[in-house]
Amino acid sequence: MAIKYINSKTFKNKTVLVRVDVNVPIKNNKVEDDFRINSVILTLRMLRDGGNRIILCGHLGRPEGEWEESLSLRPVARELAYQMGYKFLETAHELGSYPDRRLIFFTGNLMEDTHLAQLKLVPESDLLFLENLRFYPQEEENAMSLARRLASCADAYVDEAFSVTHHRAVSISAITKVLPAYGGPLLEQEIKSLSFVLERRQKPFVLMMGGIKISDKIEVLEHLGKHADSILLGGGLASLVFASRGYEIGISKTEAGALNKAFQVDKNFKNKLVLPVDVVVANKDMDKDSIRVCPPHEVRKNEQILDAGPKTILQFAGILKTAKTIVWNGPLGLFERKPFYTATIALARVIGGVGKRTAYALVGGGETVDAVRQAGQLENIDHVSTGGGAMLEFLAGKKLPGIEALK
Ligand code: 3PG
Repeated sequence: MAIKYINSKTFKNKTVLVRVDVNVPIKNNKVEDDFRINSVILTLRMLRDGGNRIILCGHLGRPEGEWEESLSLRPVARELAYQMGYKFLETAHELGSYPDRRLIFFTGNLMEDTHLAQLKLVPESDLLFLENLRFYPQEEENAMSLARRLASCADAYVDEAFSVTHHRAVSISAITKVLPAYGGPLLEQEIKSLSFVLERRQKPFVLMMGGIKISDKIEVLEHLGKHADSILLGGGLASLVFASRGYEIGISKTEAGALNKAFQVDKNFKNKLVLPVDVVVANKDMDKDSIRVCPPHEVRKNEQILDAGPKTILQFAGILKTAKTIVWNGPLGLFERKPFYTATIALARVIGGVGKRTAYALVGGGETVDAVRQAGQLENIDHVSTGGGAMLEFLAGKKLPGIEALK
């Protein structure tokens, strides 16, 4: 069966439970990156304008079924209230009526009848935002008990959290058994864009991957790599391939115990794998005067590879410019630290430029999206996925439990 997607006419005056992925970086109680929050605003406005009462739910971090103050969704709720132009109110169970539109951050316990009953009293003009669902052990156990509690407050469920569809949790899976279930516009866009790359991409197709954990990426490399004309590797992935070839990589950060995976990628894709021809290295403390550029086989024991070098940037850029389809996931260096973000930002600009003119560009993953934003290229990329792990699993050709549940 096909997924039913919502539009502005699907619901009128209903109570809609919307699962969003607002798992975003937070520092000093402030949202550091609002990309995922921003991505769901249009959906919420659309539902609101249909006179619907919205109950929003999501998770933050991995609290493993226990309340953890540092993983409260409060800062996210505040940010969302601000972006929607709503007053922010926090309460455990007192929800009287009020003249202004409010975003009510609901910290009550859904497993308690008196608290749950309050959710049903919220006026339709208010937006309800539930505290981190992963504070309930039932969430990740995909337990029907929590699914039924949530379902008892709503008429329908909308999945707008593509980036969590690789999990089998109550708010993604079990809930679809007890409420009429739909996909939201963002989920629809994600599925269409990723399917386009899997099924209808044009050649030349360039896959660029970086980051540290090869285990998270190997399935995509294997699946999409077969169809790619070039595979550009950077970051810890490239360092690991260098190590598997027997090069000295000093104290470079790579995934432990994964050398065989890098060896396998190198062997399987020898003719299309493009690795850095020069790397930026530094000592353990990254002292300024220890930074130098060298060929990858000349890294010293006390050095670490921290970025791709200038020749590599030119080489990768040249290949990207010939592409008709580009998929990029993972930074090419220690992106969060200057000056080791150079290759990542430079190539984000190249992909933005090519994406604007000649290629279909798909980018995903938290740091990758951040790099695209810092490079000022968000508008030029055809699809910026909100998904990290989910995007990788989808592109690896896997069936995602959350998507299957909606069918
Ligand atoms: C993500 O950030 O990719 C999703 O929110 C899933 O988070 P998780 O990896 O903690 O399950």
